[in-house]
Amino acid sequence: MDDLNKIKKIYDLSYKKYDKIVDKYWHFNRNLILKYLKKNKKIIELGIGTGLNIPFYPTGSKITGIDLSKEMLKKAEIKALKRKDIKLSIILGSISNLIKRIKINQFDYAILTWYLSVTPKLKEDITQLKRVTTDKILIVDHSKNNPNFIQKVLGKLTYLISHYNPYIDLEQIFKENQFKIKKIYLGKFGRFIKNDTFLFILTPFKIKSK
Ligand SMILES: C[S@@+](CC[C@H](N)C(=O)[O-])C[C@H]1O[C@@H](n2cnc3c(N)ncnc32)[C@H](O)[C@@H]1O
Repeated sequence: MDDLNKIKKIYDLSYKKYDKIVDKYWHFNRNLILKYLKKNKKIIELGIGTGLNIPFYPTGSKITGIDLSKEMLKKAEIKALKRKDIKLSIILGSISNLIKRIKINQFDYAILTWYLSVTPKLKEDITQLKRVTTDKILIVDHSKNNPNFIQKVLGKLTYLISHYNPYIDLEQIFKENQFKIKKIYLGKFGRFIKNDTFLFILTPFKIKSK
């Protein structure tokens, strides 16, 4: 089974208890995101999952949420029913494949919470995000500056077992992509080992559409 199918299986099986697990081990104040968003904007959310960010989108947001787990997405759709003031379009499938087909500069904002530590195509996804987003990219995830050898091995092992890697140097990858970076430390989160978690606010250089 390849990585994507394994990820799909993990979330298709855990969708019922997902929100409770996140609330217990990976809870952060999602209102923080709201502070950086204006009303009536076009937003892409990668790995929207059960839609835990849905209650926090500003009025008038037009959100495109992508995820490969049908079961997680069903829960997101239920949450969206309570938000008559936003519009949510859901796409089921592999983000790394789908995002390549989206036209340049389609979204004002991108939101990714607990996604980058899970996707098997992290670098490609970030490059594509920069292409489709004009204003801001908000990311909440684990990031480890200059992980040492043991942390790198531990990250690979965690990925093999649970399909997430909390020891990636996200900040370095953002720098390589020439984003302007603002970083807010949120604390240590995790189930067995707690790891540093940040809110990154990235501002991409604008690419002019033809
Ligand atoms: C840890 S959950 C995060 C869910 C949500 N963003 C949150 O804050 O709770 C990661 C989600 O990303 C999805 N996912 C991971 N890699 C993906 C990919 N390459 N394509 C589509 N969905 C993906 C999983 O199915 C899962 O729902």
